[in-house]
Amino acid sequence: MTELKEQMNQWIAYIEAKLEDFIPKQEQFPPIIFEAMRYSLFAGGKRLRPMMVLAACEAVGGDREEGVPFACAMEMIHTYSLIHDDLPAMDNDDYRRGRLTNHKVFGEDMAILAGDGLLHNAMEIMADACCLNPCQKTTGAMQAIAHGAGIHGMLVGQVVDVFYEGKTLDGKTLDFIHINKTAAMICAALKAGAILGGATETVIGKFALAGEKIGVAFQILDDILDVTSTMEELGKPIHSDEKNEKKTYVDLYGIEKSREIACKLSDEAMAIWLELGESCDFLRDLTEYLTKRTY
Ligand code: IPE
Ligand code: IPE
Ligand code: MG
Ligand code: MG
Ligand code: MG
Repeated sequence: MTELKEQMNQWIAYIEAKLEDFIPKQEQFPPIIFEAMRYSLFAGGKRLRPMMVLAACEAVGGDREEGVPFACAMEMIHTYSLIHDDLPAMDNDDYRRGRLTNHKVFGEDMAILAGDGLLHNAMEIMADACCLNPCQKTTGAMQAIAHGAGIHGMLVGQVVDVFYEGKTLDGKTLDFIHINKTAAMICAALKAGAILGGATETVIGKFALAGEKIGVAFQILDDILDVTSTMEELGKPIHSDEKNEKKTYVDLYGIEKSREIACKLSDEAMAIWLELGESCDFLRDLTEYLTKRTY
């Protein structure tokens, strides 16, 4: 196993143990909702966004423990977005993270509520962390995450994504979708981590910029993998975009050119990590892996 894979696995184990501390056990009443929330949250997943919160926090000299509630909140918001993204009214997909999608197991009503539940739980966790330690770092991190997920971030990206199904769209509109539906959360993760670690405004800005580049490249790769990968590899169905008549990077630019664009963004992000020094080595390796992977 490569060193990066080992580091990622260590982060995943750490994050999954912490997630347990912030999510109700399914014995609580009413068990159905906690079961549904836990089903998708503990279905695996790369845990990239919480990993980025914690790694960013450490990279600027912060204490990872302080980042934990925000990292967990980030993963809950991301998981909510996946549950809702897979609903019949959205992308209508049957598999996610290698298992049946939430609505396939719990029904659409519970899947909607499980998504809502994860989002609300995330907000509660962050608000509690802010109350426990009211300061610029905690409130700033919550602000970055709320904005990343909200109506000027991921949500509006999803709106434009579904609105343009079956319609033609130009590169500018597609970039709006990618910047918002995917990059906004990745940007928020890195930004929140840097804020929690006490970085200066300038450094926080660099983390945010790297996040936007990584996020767009990551979604371009997701578009490519939807055509070139397999369900076994991804844990989710391929050809979902074609099924939903979504225009992706592959439609607009072709696979080769799309890879080139992702590669350029990735290199720009890597240059930022290089400039920030060796404390960002893990983030640099992670960036390379995420934006150049072929599976
Ligand atoms: C999937 O995100 C949704 C996109 C933004 C492409 P990930 O690829 O990070 O999904 P998990 O968390 O590993 O399942
Ligand atoms: C979804 O993009 C991004 C989210 C905000 C969930 P996709 O619809 O392409 O993600 P996948 O391919 O289903 O993971
Ligand atoms: Mg979608
Ligand atoms: Mg989808
Ligand atoms: Mg996709």
